[in-house]
Amino acid sequence: MVEPILKWAGGKRQLLSEITAQFPADFERYHEPFVGGGAVYFHLEPERGSINDLNDRLVTLYEVIRDRDPEDLIAENETHEHDEDYYYDARDEFNDLHEVDDKTDDQRLREASLFLYLNRTCFNGLYRENNSGEFNVPVGRYANPDWVQAERIRTLHEVLRDTTIHNEDFEYVRGEADAGDLVYFDPPYEPVSTTANFTDYHAEGFDKDDQKRLRDLAVDLDANGVSVVISNSPPVAELYEEYDQFTVTVVGATRSINSDGDNRGEVAEVLITNVPDAEKRRTTLSEYN
Ligand SMILES: C[S@@+](CC[C@H](N)C(=O)[O-])C[C@H]1O[C@@H](n2cnc3c(N)ncnc32)[C@H](O)[C@@H]1O
Repeated sequence: MVEPILKWAGGKRQLLSEITAQFPADFERYHEPFVGGGAVYFHLEPERGSINDLNDRLVTLYEVIRDRDPEDLIAENETHEHDEDYYYDARDEFNDLHEVDDKTDDQRLREASLFLYLNRTCFNGLYRENNSGEFNVPVGRYANPDWVQAERIRTLHEVLRDTTIHNEDFEYVRGEADAGDLVYFDPPYEPVSTTANFTDYHAEGFDKDDQKRLRDLAVDLDANGVSVVISNSPPVAELYEEYDQFTVTVVGATRSINSDGDNRGEVAEVLITNVPDAEKRRTTLSEYN
């Protein structure tokens, strides 16, 4: 079990046991089409499968960790400084590198290292871009940020060895997942009250049509014998009501990144799955002994 390497909005560390309790006790390969900071993937350490995210800088980081000697990235990380001017220079360099097409391996290593450094030292660990795609989060205030992450990089290098990494829309998994595989979807969403309707529901960047595309994909995967678990906002459960193969469980979550740092209350989320109760990990004998 390895801790996530990044701070990431919507990170699932608090819900790990509730999410993985929905997983089947046995499955072939594991796929995570909205991997983000990868709390569930890293917790599970699956031997084979795929991860994906639309964020190309995030994907570059995971590819560099998988494909390079981990000591190269660790050494690059050790060159950074805990200083405000250094932070803004690093942010400029990170944004300039993003504009370079066909990067060399060393430019990709540098981009990955800058991403880790900025993620660990920026305000609240946020990831935000302006309209031109520039990362624009200001510096944070940390006494002792750890952007080197040596042990996690070494472990993750091993865990990612047989994982395919994609940088595209989540629907890639239609072609990637086979019968017997498990797909865990954690799309962008805002947890809200359980009483809201899907028609009133809005999440920035991932709209109702995307939620319907995700539902249609889940239905197709189910028909192909793939196990599916989806984290989502309570109103979205309406979309699955007419499909008997899916069950919905409401769970509480403590937000790890919040615009209001004092307001870390419980918010409802749902887990939607086609995994029958009898096949879930939580019903294995060892859990009762
Ligand atoms: C809620 S976050 C996932 C958080 C993750 N489970 C964790 O523990 O950190 C959702 C992720 O989906 C990505 N994303 C947004 N739209 C997408 C799309 N259409 N296809 C694939 N990924 C997308 C975002 O970049 C973001 O990293």
